[in-house]
Amino acid sequence: MPTIGVIGGDGVGPEVVREGLAVLADVAEREGFRYDLVPFDLGGERYLKTGEVLPDKVVDDLRRCDALFLGAVGHPGVAPGILEKGILLRLRFEFHQYVNLRPVRLYPGVETPIKGKGPEEIDMVVVRENNEDLYVGAGGFTRKGTAEEVAIQTSINTRAGVERCLRYAFDLARSRGRERPYRGLSEEERGRGLVGQVTLVAKTNVLTFAHDLWMRAFTETARDYPEIKSDYQHVDACCMRMVVSPERFDVIATTNMFGDIITDLGAVLQGGMGLAASGNLNPARTAPSMFEPVHGSAPDIAGKGIANPIAAILSVAMLLDHLELPRASERIRRAVARVLAAGAPKTPDLGGRANTADVGQAVRNAFE
Ligand code: NAD
Ligand code: IPM
Ligand code: MN
Repeated sequence: MPTIGVIGGDGVGPEVVREGLAVLADVAEREGFRYDLVPFDLGGERYLKTGEVLPDKVVDDLRRCDALFLGAVGHPGVAPGILEKGILLRLRFEFHQYVNLRPVRLYPGVETPIKGKGPEEIDMVVVRENNEDLYVGAGGFTRKGTAEEVAIQTSINTRAGVERCLRYAFDLARSRGRERPYRGLSEEERGRGLVGQVTLVAKTNVLTFAHDLWMRAFTETARDYPEIKSDYQHVDACCMRMVVSPERFDVIATTNMFGDIITDLGAVLQGGMGLAASGNLNPARTAPSMFEPVHGSAPDIAGKGIANPIAAILSVAMLLDHLELPRASERIRRAVARVLAAGAPKTPDLGGRANTADVGQAVRNAFE
């Protein structure tokens, strides 16, 4: 029986996690599988009360779980970075969750701000490198607080770290292509046997060390995937094209920092922060993977009961995929699709008036 560690966290985190867990309980009963839940009290409240961010003992307990489900961390009363680095990034790094998988998929019935684009055009997946780059915390200050101050924040990119992420992206393009060939390929490309595409998103024209490594690793990895088209976009142009022609993307592979930024843009393409799910994956399964909405603790709406729980519910679906329960995850996605297609109930971020619990309940009612 799998053990799922649950970190509600801060702000809207516990509010959306509650709905995710209710959907999980329901689908488990219908599908006839069992699991253990282990709650972990982590986040701003614990820190403010005890000074503890993430004790080593808790990391050991988390490590024993088969998967983790996280709401969000980040508290208005705590300096930026303490919880984000101390909890979220520490777990991503220590548990070798080197892929942050972030699907960008528009469900039928959801309004995207992108004119003339629908579910056929908006269906890509971002494979965000999750253990390196500017996120490692390498750097420091000299002459801090003086007029001569210098702050250095170094981007670390290792060949092995980049390559394993790229390999994941190509494998994903291959499996997506087997299910349904990428629609953006020309007749001629399909004729040559291509089924999918990986776009490397970087900034090779400026970051001529780090992204030179990325480009070489990309070109060499691509040789093992003759049925996958290799594509490259500078990150600035990528942002423009995600808006103007989202259909030109299938799988995007990118760095930790760029992946963070373009996936908030991706969330908007799919209808908003309330809908975007993610998985921090340890593909080798040497430690638990962690599933969480792309959004944060949303302090501006926390405590009002109006956060959209769909991102969290879809993150549960990704968690079930990871636990190799694809029937259960598909059932969740179909139920979410039904609720979204019906156009109600909707939380205010989608233009409705429903609350978090209404939407969670509607998803559970929509199970066939
Ligand atoms: P945010 O994602 O929390 O909020 C951005 C905007 O999106 C806000 O207007 C918010 O109300 C809205 N929003 C977010 N989730 C929503 C939902 N489920 N339903 C409806 N609307 C939603 O980003 P932010 O404001 O930049 O950050 C707030 C805090 O969260 C910060 O402390 C930040 O560090 C943290 N954060 C944590 C995570 C995480 O734990 N994974 C991710 C991002 C930000
Ligand atoms: C995300 C968040 C985190 C990130 C922060 C809170 C550390 O923005 O999961 O997208 O930058 O990865
Ligand atoms: Mn982010």
